[in-house]
Amino acid sequence: MMRPLMAEHVKRDLVSIGDLSTAEILELFHHADEFRANLHAWSDLCRGAIMATLFFEPSTRTRLSFESAMLRLGGGVISAADTESSSRAKGESLADTVRVVGGSYADILVVRHPEDGAARVAARYATVPVINGGDGAHEHPTQTLCDLYTLWKEKGRLQGLEVVLCGDLRYSRTIHSFCYALARFGANIVTMPYPGFELPDYVLRRLDREFGVRAASASVGDLPGLADSSNAVAYLTASKPHQLALFTKLGNVEVSRIDAIYMTRAQLERHDSQDTTTDYPRVTPSTLRAASTKDASIMHPLPRVDEISYDLDDDPRSIYFRQAELGVPMRMALMAFLLGKIQLRAKQPDLLSVSPGISGGVGLRCRNEKCITNNEGVRYLERDFRLREKTSPPALSCAFCESELEARFIGHSASRIVHRHNAAEVRQIKPDNRVYFESEAQAEAAGFTWQAT
Ligand code: NCD
Repeated sequence: MMRPLMAEHVKRDLVSIGDLSTAEILELFHHADEFRANLHAWSDLCRGAIMATLFFEPSTRTRLSFESAMLRLGGGVISAADTESSSRAKGESLADTVRVVGGSYADILVVRHPEDGAARVAARYATVPVINGGDGAHEHPTQTLCDLYTLWKEKGRLQGLEVVLCGDLRYSRTIHSFCYALARFGANIVTMPYPGFELPDYVLRRLDREFGVRAASASVGDLPGLADSSNAVAYLTASKPHQLALFTKLGNVEVSRIDAIYMTRAQLERHDSQDTTTDYPRVTPSTLRAASTKDASIMHPLPRVDEISYDLDDDPRSIYFRQAELGVPMRMALMAFLLGKIQLRAKQPDLLSVSPGISGGVGLRCRNEKCITNNEGVRYLERDFRLREKTSPPALSCAFCESELEARFIGHSASRIVHRHNAAEVRQIKPDNRVYFESEAQAEAAGFTWQAT
């Protein structure tokens, strides 16, 4: 009697790093350690399973490390890696592709797509687990698993580490997933954005709302000057009143020790035509002369263009090639888990903490022009917004790409009368009957009118 591979196994996806609990991530690290101890010993674990990689954007490490991981687990791999040779070139939607490929073709899907929120769409439509291999500028959670795992192995912990994130923080999806994870594990984040490429507001708000973290911000101009900005300062604490310590000033924070500098390339493929990247920051041996950087790990998701000097490749602090190497055992652990081949004891994330959906988002349009709902999804996706904060006006976020908007106008779905969000009448409308709008024009276009006075 044949048994389906996924029998009695509830589908889990990894779209956002938030789809795994902190305890689950730590448990996966331990499994990755086991896989890494002998990469060749696991060829029976996922025998018979097939992974499909659907990559609609270039990739080297992510796709090959996934494929290698699945082959080492004894499974098979099918791949649509060249957009031009897949049906997307003929206009097929992502939803249709994953419905077809997930199932009789493959037991697990890894998707990379240029549009923000695409991985959530794939996860909703596929009947098999979906792993986000990078969706636009949104998230890249498996890169984060590799980054965290590498840093955890290097430092023996994550809590309390001082981590500097540097470069194009606006479009770098690896940075977005990484900073949520760092915040959850209790690391301190100092952002050092290339000017104009700061962390997006929705990321900053999520850091604050979910983890109570306000990332300190430093000027990228501090990077080449790190070496000069270390000062001997009397460090006054009750226990060691006159200890002399070296501090580096990073914006409004002073740190005596930087544990990691995570550098990213300018994400040119996502930039608008007016964006420029002259004087993009660069880590060089002189950057790392400061006492505070004595043990700073230099990290990069790769590919590197020119952000890290090749002179640093042999420096023991450089761990970017290790991040890539550890991608294989880390992805083996993740896939074995999602395929139900290893069980985790840790609790999964609390689904109750997911913000409730709102029924009345029909009048809204995501503000992010790069969101899948404003691109290929226009043809078939229903808008879906979550109520993030009961602020006034209410803050709503797109369930696909997470960018946020303020609903300044609220109407009644039956009477089709609209009010300002703070009008007394709004309090009389039951939550299920509320229809949200950003602007008057949006409400009027949806056929809503103002109360006759
Ligand atoms: C990253 C990506 O694709 O977002 N690459 C990767 O997966 N290692 C980083 C980048 O392209 O800059």
